[in-house]
Amino acid sequence: MTTKLTPLGERSAWKALGAHHQQVQDTTLRQLFADDPARGERFTLEAAGIFLDYSKNRITNETLKLLVQLAEESGLKARIDAMFSGEKINITENRAVLHVALRAPKGEKIVVDGEDVVPAVHAVLDKMAGFADRVRSGAWKGHTGKRIKNVINIGIGGSDLGPVMAYEALKHYSQRDITFRFVSNVDGTDFAEAVQDLKADETLFLVASKTFTTLETMTNAHTARDWSLAGLGGDEKAVAKHFVAISTNEKEVTKFGIDTANMFEFWDWVGGRYSMDSAIGLSTMLAIGPDNFRAMLGGFHEMDEHFRTAPFASNLPVLLGLLTVWYTDFFDAQTVAVLPYEQYLKRFPAYLQQLTMESNGKHVTLDGTHVATETGPIYWGEPGTNGQHSFYQLIHQGTRLIPCDFIGFYKTLNPLGKHHDTLMANVFAQAEALAFGKTAEQVKAEGTPDWLVPHRVFEGNRPSNTILADHLTPEVLGKLIALYEHAVFTQGTIWSIDSFDQWGVELGKVLAQKIIGELEAATEPALSHDTSTTNLIRRYRKNK
Ligand code: F6P
Repeated sequence: MTTKLTPLGERSAWKALGAHHQQVQDTTLRQLFADDPARGERFTLEAAGIFLDYSKNRITNETLKLLVQLAEESGLKARIDAMFSGEKINITENRAVLHVALRAPKGEKIVVDGEDVVPAVHAVLDKMAGFADRVRSGAWKGHTGKRIKNVINIGIGGSDLGPVMAYEALKHYSQRDITFRFVSNVDGTDFAEAVQDLKADETLFLVASKTFTTLETMTNAHTARDWSLAGLGGDEKAVAKHFVAISTNEKEVTKFGIDTANMFEFWDWVGGRYSMDSAIGLSTMLAIGPDNFRAMLGGFHEMDEHFRTAPFASNLPVLLGLLTVWYTDFFDAQTVAVLPYEQYLKRFPAYLQQLTMESNGKHVTLDGTHVATETGPIYWGEPGTNGQHSFYQLIHQGTRLIPCDFIGFYKTLNPLGKHHDTLMANVFAQAEALAFGKTAEQVKAEGTPDWLVPHRVFEGNRPSNTILADHLTPEVLGKLIALYEHAVFTQGTIWSIDSFDQWGVELGKVLAQKIIGELEAATEPALSHDTSTTNLIRRYRKNK
C-alpha cells in the first residue's frame, strides 16, 4: 500500500476518459438507446439481491472500459485488500478502517495491531443482545421498579444519523410498545420536546458518543441526567438504571457517572459515520431485536463480500462510485440526488450526507498536495413522490446536471389498494422522463401553441440509476448502506484522498468553545475577533 501512485491527472485512463468525454458529451440517451436497444437489459447488474439498472447513464461500452481501467490504475484492488486486512489506511489519524469487521461472521479473522478483532466484536454484540432482550421483555427495571417504555438516544453525527435512519427504516419490525426518540441538536428545544410527555421512571437514555467529549452530546447528556434525577427524587443511584453509554472512551464514561458495566464498547477503527452497525446501533437493536439486527449485519456482510471479490465491471459499489466520478469530474455535476421511493427510507438521504460528504469533502490528496480535480459531490434527496412536487422541476428543466439514484422495491410492507403500483410507476416514469424528455415536435403535435412550446420541452439526457430490491428488510437495509459505503470508498480511492478523517469539522468547534465563554461572561470580555464577529457577539449579549 505504500506504492506511489501516479497523480490522477497523469493516469492514462484519466487522460483517455478526458478525450473520450469530448467525443461522447453531446451524445444523447435517446441516441444511445436507439443505437443499442438491448442496452436497457445489458447495462444492468444484480448482486446480493440488489438490482441496478445503470443503462440510463451517459456512458458507452468504452466509458465503462475506461472507468474500470481507471479503478485499476488507481490501485483500487490493493486498497480494498488493505482496508479488509486492517491496514491503517486512515493515514492522518493513523487508524485502521474496519467497519467491515463489525459484520464479519464469528470465526473470521481480522487482525489489527497483532490482535484478531472479530471475537471482541461478537462479545459486544452478545452483550448488546442480552441487554436488548432484558429491556424488550421488561426484565430490566427502572429505579422505581417500572419497566422501560421510552428509549432516548443522545448522540450527534454518526452517533445519531445512523440510529435515526435505521429506526425509521426498520420501524415495521420494531417493538411498538417502546417509544424511541433521538436527541442530537445542542438547541435545548430538541431535548425539551423529546421528553415533554415522558416520565423519568420509564425512560432509558443511551448516550452514544465515540469520543464521549462531543459538546452537543455531553450538553444533552448532562441535561438528561438532571431531568432524570429530578424526576426520580434525586437519588444518584438511579443513573445506573436509566443511563447506558456507547463509547470508545471508558475514562470519560466513568467520569460522567455511568458504570462501565453499562457501557457498550467499540473501537477507534470504527469511524463515526461508519458506526451504525457497532454498539452505536444499540437503539436499533432495542427497536428491532437482536435477531433482526444480526440479519442486518448479514446483509452488510454480503455486500462487503461482493465488493471485495467481484470483478470491477460487475461490482455494484465500484460501478456506482465510478459513475459518480464520471459525472463529477467530466460533466461538472455538483450534486447527486438520492431518491428513495419507500417512506421508511425517509432519513436515508440525510444519513448519506454525512457518509458521503464527511468522507469525500476533501481538498488534499493523501500526500498532502492540493487535488487537481473536483472531489466529493453534494448528496441530497427526499423520499418519492414528495420531491416530485418540489425540486424535480429543476432536475427536469433546470440548467444543472443532477445524476439521480432512484431506489424502489418490488413489494411494499404495507399493501394498501393501488398505492404501491402507483408509487413504483412514478419511479419508472421519472427515470424515463429524465432520460428521454419530450421534444418540441412532440409538444407541438399535442396542439401546444408555438409560444408555449419551449416552456413545455424536456431536453432529457439527464442520467439516473435505478436500484431495486424485493422489499425492505433489515438485511436489505444493510446491503444498501454497504453499497454506498463502498461506493464512497471507490470514489475516495480514485481521488487519492483520505475518506476516513474529518479535520474540516475542527475549526468551528474550537472557535465555538471560545465564544461560549464570551457569551456567558457577566461583563463583556476583551473580544479579539474580526469586526463582524465582535459586532454579532455584542449584539447577542445585549439582546439575549
Ligand atoms: O462531526 C464530527 C464528528 O466527529 C463525526 O465524525 C462524528 O460522527 C460526530 O462528530 C460525533 O462524534 P462522537 O460520536 O465522538 O460524539
